[in-house]
Amino acid sequence: MKSKHVVNKENLGVGTFEVPKNAQKYILDVLKTKRISYGPYLKRFENEFAQLHGAQFGIVVNSGTSALRIAIACLKEAGKWKDGDEVIIPAVTFVSDVNILIQNNLTPVFVDVDPYTYNIDPHKIEEKIGPKTRAIIPSHLFGQPAAMDRIGKIARAHKLKVIEDSCETMFAKYRGKSVGSLGDIACFSTYVAHLIVTGVGGIALTNNKKYAEILRSLANHGRDGIYISIDDDKGKRGNELEKIVTRRFRFIRPGYSFRLTEFEGALGCAQLEVADTSFATRKKNAEYLIAHLAPLGTHMQLPSHPDHADHVFMMFPVVLKKGCGFSKVDLVNFLESEGIETRDMLPLINQPMIKKMFSIRKGQYPVADWINTNGFYIGCHPGMKKQELEYIVDRFTAFFSSRAKRKIARA
Ligand SMILES: Cc1ncc(COP(=O)(O)O)c(C=O)c1O
Repeated sequence: MKSKHVVNKENLGVGTFEVPKNAQKYILDVLKTKRISYGPYLKRFENEFAQLHGAQFGIVVNSGTSALRIAIACLKEAGKWKDGDEVIIPAVTFVSDVNILIQNNLTPVFVDVDPYTYNIDPHKIEEKIGPKTRAIIPSHLFGQPAAMDRIGKIARAHKLKVIEDSCETMFAKYRGKSVGSLGDIACFSTYVAHLIVTGVGGIALTNNKKYAEILRSLANHGRDGIYISIDDDKGKRGNELEKIVTRRFRFIRPGYSFRLTEFEGALGCAQLEVADTSFATRKKNAEYLIAHLAPLGTHMQLPSHPDHADHVFMMFPVVLKKGCGFSKVDLVNFLESEGIETRDMLPLINQPMIKKMFSIRKGQYPVADWINTNGFYIGCHPGMKKQELEYIVDRFTAFFSSRAKRKIARA
């Protein structure tokens, strides 16, 4: 049955890019001042973003993956880890968590996820810890922090480092503390369709000064921290200037070229100014969908979160319940044909590369298998208006009632 709703189909995607009030002004400012390399906007973005997450240091890079890559390289260097050492990651997460480990000659060890939060199941971590385990990367997926109290306890008991993969979660609190301040290093993405969007971009946060120095050096070719940006020798005289000039081209570790430009910094600053309203709208949208899709709750599991953890809903995950008799493929194809964009919920252990490299067996990660077969997400971003939300509810309802009718007719 066709919908009677008139919607802007462009708003039915999984993400949006709203141009914030001051974006044009700040971008023009970058053009006018001709300062496009690491400068005032990126520094301001780093400081504000870090402060908002309860962290002392922020290091911008060109993607969330780059942030993760330098985070792991930093901890490997500081902790003198060996090639082949192991890092625990969830069996549902974005592929970069595996890639950055392989690229740093480390071994990912998968742990199944919780069937309600979809984050790493803390009860299944300890059985995977061995003599070579060095760290845990608990991804905060879909906008919800992982169970960081238990993960922190395990990490302390086994002397493991914690890297928060917070690429999908910003400004969320867990038992009163913000994501980004719950581990040793936290990594965020500002890529398209994320919570704060700068086109490409990422940021690593830490409260450890030594890590901050290593991270910044790694992102800048492995440079000596004395000279990272072209401001670092400004106003310096005599011995101080001489020291900088002699060390300006000193490289002290193998690094990467992961820099951003002031254009992304300008966009980031403008977005932070409106983050409160944009996050509130996103939450309201998600709550509308949860309330109005609730009558379909016998067929599909809607997002939920414990009282002690925020959910900032980077997306709106839905998983068909076991035995509900409906097929994800049918549902997703129906929604897509009605203009509602969908995405799989970060499939990992069923991917060709992962299956081959890590000899994954069917049934080894039952919750991840269930999510991969039955789960997907749609958007609930602040660009969605009431009519789009109503349309989404209407289309889900139409799918289940028409398929149910067909089942009855066949019986
Ligand atoms: C959980 C997670 N980790 C890492 C990343 C990588 O971020 P980026 O695309 O900025 O490299 C993403 C990106 O979507 C993600 O969702």
